[in-house]
Amino acid sequence: MVEASAPGKIILFGEHAVVYGRPAIAVPLSQLRATAVIQPNPQSGVQLIAPDLGMSASLQEAVPDDPLAAAIHQIQRAANIAQWPDMIVTVSSQIPIASGLGSGAAITAAILRALAQYLDLPYLLTDEQISALTYEVEKIHHGTPSGIDNTVVAYERPVYFVRRQPQNLIEPFAVGTLLRLLVADTGVSSSTKLVVGDVRRQWEADPSQFEALFSTCGEIAVAARQAIERGDLPEIGQLMTRNHQVLQTMTVSSLELDRLVQAAQQAGALGAKLSGAGWGGNMIALVTMETETAVRQALLQAGARHVLLTTLI
Ligand code: PMV
Repeated sequence: MVEASAPGKIILFGEHAVVYGRPAIAVPLSQLRATAVIQPNPQSGVQLIAPDLGMSASLQEAVPDDPLAAAIHQIQRAANIAQWPDMIVTVSSQIPIASGLGSGAAITAAILRALAQYLDLPYLLTDEQISALTYEVEKIHHGTPSGIDNTVVAYERPVYFVRRQPQNLIEPFAVGTLLRLLVADTGVSSSTKLVVGDVRRQWEADPSQFEALFSTCGEIAVAARQAIERGDLPEIGQLMTRNHQVLQTMTVSSLELDRLVQAAQQAGALGAKLSGAGWGGNMIALVTMETETAVRQALLQAGARHVLLTTLI
C-alpha cells in the first residue's frame, strides 16, 4: 500500500492577472490536504473511490472528464503503461471544493504522487513533473489555467509565479517574518471556470481597461514580494487591500466577500482580500497575535462559515 498527499493553496496576490502574464504569489495551505491511497485490488480492475466526492466507480465506468480518471490517464500517457495492475485508488480531501483553495489541483497531485510511487516510476516524482501533469488535468476543468495552482501544490513552498513561454517563471522565495493569515470561507461555492470566462469577456470588450487593471495587480505582486521578503507587515497588508479593490473593479468580488473583507479591516486586520477566482470561496486577512481573536470573531459575525489560521515563515 502507498499513501501520498498534497496541500491546498492560497493566492496571496495577483489572481486573474496571472492568467494574462502578470506576476502572482501563492503559498501552500499545508494543514488542509488531499490524500490518495493505493492498494492491491482483490478483484480484477482499477477501482476509484472518493467518499468526499460521492464517487465509487471502476476506471472503465468513469466519465472521460472525471478528475480521478484524468490523473490516472496522465500517468498512463507519461509512462506508456499498457496494462494497469489490479488496484484500488482511494482519495480523501480536507480541502473544501469550489472555494479557491486548490482542491482540484491537490487531489490530482496526490493521486499522481501515489501512482508514481506504487508503480515505481521515480522520474515522475519530481515536483516539476507532478506540477506539469497536474496542469494537464487542470486544463480539462478550468479551460485556461495560469499554472499557479499546480505549481504551488506540487512544490509546497511560497512561489512567485509568472506564466510565460516557453517556460513559466517559478521562484520560491523567503518569508522575512512570520505571517499570520486568517482564511475565512463565505460558504458560497463558485466555479473558477465561470469567473475566469467572465473576466475574459470583459477583457475582450475593453482590453485597455483590463490590461491596465492586470498591470496594477502585477505591480502590487512585485511590491508584495519585496515587502514579504523584508518582513514589512503593514506594507503587505496595504497591498492586500489594494489588490482587493482592483479585484472589485474586475467584478470578481461578491457581497459576502466584501462584507468579510470590511469586517476584518474594521476589527484591526493589517489588510484583507478575496483569494482565488472570487464570486464566493475564501478571503484572507493579515493579522497579528494581538488582533487575531478580534478579527476572527468579526469574520464569524459577518457570516464566515469557517475561519482557520495559517502561518508562514
Ligand atoms: O482555483 P482558484 O479558484 O483558486 O483560482 C485560480 C486563480 C485564477 O487566477 C483566478 C485562475 C488561474 O488559473 O490562475
